[in-house]
This record gives sequence, C-alpha cells and structure tokens, in this order.
Amino acid sequence: MFEALERLPADPILGLSAACTADPNPDKIDLTVGVYKDESGQTPVFAAIQRAQEALSEREVTKAYLPQVGDANYIAGIRTLLLGETHPALAAKRVTSVQAPGGCGALRVGAEVIKAASPNAKVWISAPTWPNHIPLIGSVGLEFKEYRYYDAATHSVDFDGMLEDLATANAGDVLLLHGCCHNPCGADLSPEQWQAVTGLVADRGLMPFIDTAYQGMGKGLEEDAFGVRHMAEHLPEVLVAASNSKNMGLYRERTGAILFCGTGAEEAEIFASQATKAARKIYSMPPAHGAILAGMVLSDPALNASWRQELAAMCERLNGVRALLDEKLSAATGKDYSFIRRESGMFSFLGLSSEQVDRLREEFSVYMVGSSRVNVAGVNKANVDYLASSVAAVL
Ligand code: LMR
Repeated sequence: MFEALERLPADPILGLSAACTADPNPDKIDLTVGVYKDESGQTPVFAAIQRAQEALSEREVTKAYLPQVGDANYIAGIRTLLLGETHPALAAKRVTSVQAPGGCGALRVGAEVIKAASPNAKVWISAPTWPNHIPLIGSVGLEFKEYRYYDAATHSVDFDGMLEDLATANAGDVLLLHGCCHNPCGADLSPEQWQAVTGLVADRGLMPFIDTAYQGMGKGLEEDAFGVRHMAEHLPEVLVAASNSKNMGLYRERTGAILFCGTGAEEAEIFASQATKAARKIYSMPPAHGAILAGMVLSDPALNASWRQELAAMCERLNGVRALLDEKLSAATGKDYSFIRRESGMFSFLGLSSEQVDRLREEFSVYMVGSSRVNVAGVNKANVDYLASSVAAVL
C-alpha cells in the first residue's frame, strides 16, 4: 500500500537540529530548534517542576484518564497565568480553558472549532510566521491570507503595512497573532500597537487567535501577557493557544491549553464542549503528566514563587545573550546588530541569505534555520566568538 508514497524532506527546523546532533565537529553550534539552553548548553528541568514531580510520584495512585477538559488545577491556573488574577473577563465568568497536547495541540483544536463555526473564514498570518502554523491550521481546511509584519530593512515591525493589509480583511476573518516573542523574528508589537490592533479588530469584526508560547521569556510574565489581556478585556471574543513547553521547560510532556473568552458564560461553555469534541476525534484525551506538574506549580505558592524566579533568570540570561551577540557580531563584521537587543524572546533573524546560512553549516558547523533565524539561547560566552567570526567569514 505505501510503496507509492515518496520519502518526505526533513522538517525545516527539527531536521536541522538532528543534523547538528550528528555533526562530529566539536566546535558545532546549534541555533535551530526553540529550546532554552543555559550557559553550559543544557536544557534544564526547572527545580519547581522537579519538586512537583517528586511529590507526584509519592502521591500518584492512578494513571486513569484525566477529565476531557484536562487537569483541574492546570486549566484554572493557566487562565490566571494568561489573564492575571483580577481580569474582568474572569470576573464575568466568560472564560473557559481546555488542556491540549502543547501549543500545537491547542492551535489545532482552536482551528477545528473555528472551522466548525465559520468554514469560510480566512486566517490572516504574519509575514513571516512560524512555518508549522500552516500545516497545523491549514489541515482543517481553513485558508490563509498574509499581512505584512517584519521589515527586514529596518529590523522592526512594519506596522503601517500590517494595518493597511488588515484593513482589507472581511468580518469574521481570523487574525493569528503572536502573543509575545514573535517566532521567527523576535519583533513584538508595543502596548500602543496592541491597542491599535484591538481597535481595528473591533471595527472590522475580526476574530483574534493569539499564539502564546513564550510568556515570561521576553520582558517578563506580566509584560508579555499585555496583548492577550488587553484584547480579552476589550473584545467580545478572543481565542488563545498557550504552551508551557518553554516557560516551564515541559517540551516533551506536551503541555498546553486553548483558552476562550466569549460574550458570556454560555458561549464559553459551548466553546469548551466543541473543543473537547474536536480533541476526541484527533487524540481523544489530553496527556496527564506535564499538566499535573504545571497545575501543581501554578497552584502551590512555594512552587509558584520558585518557578517565577527561575523563569525570570532565564529571561535575564536571554536578554544578556542578546546584548553579547550584538556586541560581538558588530565588532566582528563592522555592521549594526543593535536590533538584536531590541527584539524579544528566543529568536532573531541574522539577516543572512540562504547561501550564507548553508556555508555557515557546511564550512563552520554553525546551524540555524534557512531564514537565518537563530535561537539566541544557543549562544554562550564560550561559543560567541566562534559564531561571530564564522558569520563575518561568510558575509
Ligand atoms: C521552534 O520554532 O523552533 C519551536 O517552536 C519548536 C518547533 O516545534 O518548531
């Protein structure tokens, strides 16, 4: 049956990471997949998660299925993490959340419910966006339109272009936004720009779908949630796909949630029923382990404080690496890389051609995504000089 199928090319992000792992060069640098690394190149388990895990192994008495909506502590905790304790949408009880297998699962479940509600809605995506948005959302049969977002010449958001493009969207179209730490470009909307986009969404009757996978890794947990909170306060409907892969280090545990703010409690419950139905036909039940741990961290004050501290330290390291990268790249090449400091989160474009990216990989064992997107967490004091001289050599 399957002999007629063709072998597919490797994933544009994960395939490069695998190629780097197989590279025997001791000087190799892996700047590919968006996984946090510390100064020694390790992806640590958060101490708070470790402690929760130890406590769980003592008290866990069953591996029976979770409820379809997910672990109760987790889905309540993720609502307050995203929206803040005192958000008016929570007070109005117009928010529901359903656990999903990571941010990807949340995006897919969200797309399924959008398709059920409005089969002809177009999904507006930023140019560029995370490449996996296309298969994840497109495979339910929704079509895409692109809005201008990143201006490579100025290394910043082309906000006029974005507004101009979105002014042509039809009522009922979906606007996919990155909540913070834009993947792949690292250039985020300012609070004023979020306010302006919220006004446009209200005027044109669009449906915002916010993908937030890096809360706490840009400016801080509260600052990074500005867009989600503002839209949830000022718009009748907002959909959020949240991931705890990065901000709790739970990557392989597939921990995420789809959160919906509706016009009232009834609509929010309808959404949750649709989301669990959509999940049932794809993967049936949510995975338990990561969500139970995340739920413990979100609900236990001591674990929560410890986790916030660790996350703040990661955020500080990322911003420190950004400054170091700017300094070293600017010195090695004579070009201006100060935009790297102004961008947020794990990713920035280095502004290299695909030929230059290929040469970096083939001649220097420096691995980055073809668009020249780098995971800045892969940079440290021990490899930054080699990286900067390699980039200078291919320029
Ligand atoms: C990335 O963009 O590198 C991460 O979000 C991991 C992934 O699944 O692609």
